[in-house]
Amino acid sequence: MKKTFPEGFYWGSATASYQVEGGIENTDWAQAAREGRVPECGVACEHFTRYEADFDLAKELGHTAHRLSVEWARIEPVPGEFDSQAIAHYRRVLEALHARKLKPYVTIWHFTQPLWFSEKGGFEQKNAPQIFARYSAHVVRELGDLCDHFSTMNEPNVFASNGWLRGSWPPFKRFAITDMVSITNSGKMLDSKASKGFKPLFLYFRVMKNLALAHNAAYHAIKKVSPQTEVSFVHHVIVFDANWNPFNKIKAWIANYMWTYKFLNRTKNCCDSLGLNYYFYTQFGDKRVWRKTDMDWNFAPEKIEVALLMLAKTKLPLFVSEGGVADAVDSMRAEYIKLQVLGTWRAIQQGADVRGHMYWSLLDNYEWALGFGMRFGLIAVDYENQVRTPRPSAYVYKQICESNAVVE
Ligand code: BGC
Repeated sequence: MKKTFPEGFYWGSATASYQVEGGIENTDWAQAAREGRVPECGVACEHFTRYEADFDLAKELGHTAHRLSVEWARIEPVPGEFDSQAIAHYRRVLEALHARKLKPYVTIWHFTQPLWFSEKGGFEQKNAPQIFARYSAHVVRELGDLCDHFSTMNEPNVFASNGWLRGSWPPFKRFAITDMVSITNSGKMLDSKASKGFKPLFLYFRVMKNLALAHNAAYHAIKKVSPQTEVSFVHHVIVFDANWNPFNKIKAWIANYMWTYKFLNRTKNCCDSLGLNYYFYTQFGDKRVWRKTDMDWNFAPEKIEVALLMLAKTKLPLFVSEGGVADAVDSMRAEYIKLQVLGTWRAIQQGADVRGHMYWSLLDNYEWALGFGMRFGLIAVDYENQVRTPRPSAYVYKQICESNAVVE
């Protein structure tokens, strides 16, 4: 049966600056690579110079929207001093999207921090929210005429848990007991030099609080320079579920509160809409043997429905800002996309006000601590020669985008 989406629904894919652009050296991640703690990012997909050809492909693949991020370290290489060349570059990028009738969704900050900021303590600092708000306001002041939707930040909970609990991302602080659990996309390898102990737990809570304050401060600063701009942040929702056991139900409730709702409660009054990044479903007390993606994650794209309904409790307009699968041989991506889109459709039927769907990712790219091995792209990238090849699943998605519908 054909399931049709609301008229004007946006279809597209997402990228993030550090993961695709290449040539970014003044960030905490580039520094960590120089120290041998994470893989080098180098020229990545050379998207910084190849963005027009990449957007041509997105257009050919039926997309009508594109989510990208701008790189803080390019725009503000020195505290309080903004680089006009960097802004000029992102203006050209946004113009290239408009020329192809792709609606831009811009994320102001996607994980990587300028070195001057991270070296002073990053989001552990008391004045981090003000520093972040100043940067955010600058971005919207300079780019706001070319984009009407900005997300302040990407996945604050993933950023803080990988950096301060698991210790596998900069600044590599590890809470003692998290050696035992795997949190999202941090990779299986633990950084052996990570500082361990109980202090990271306190710092984690401080960072989460500062991130919420940073989002709220950025929201107000943006509204001052551009009241009509739609402001959101991008939330990573893990669906924690439970079997029949009441003890497991309590565990799931606590996990959902700590991972999703706590941050949301602090920020939802400073949001015009919300982006959802969905990758994980897990059930306490579950004995099933799951089919796994290349990331070794459970194959459960249809549960995006639950994640959307969780965010829909805020009554805010939503968009799927990410959702996708690492699948180097493209044997499961088409099915994954279809099920994810069907889950999105079902959430809409139940009242979730979803306005768009962005697959992660347009291109294969730098998958953080896992380097270039993981292949999330609709378009395969040959890193030897930068040749792009759309995968067969990209055409299945194209069919969905162009018909604004999915067949069950
Ligand atoms: C992040 C992306 C990442 C993707 C796949 C999301 O958590 O926003 O940067 O590449 O997941 O792991």
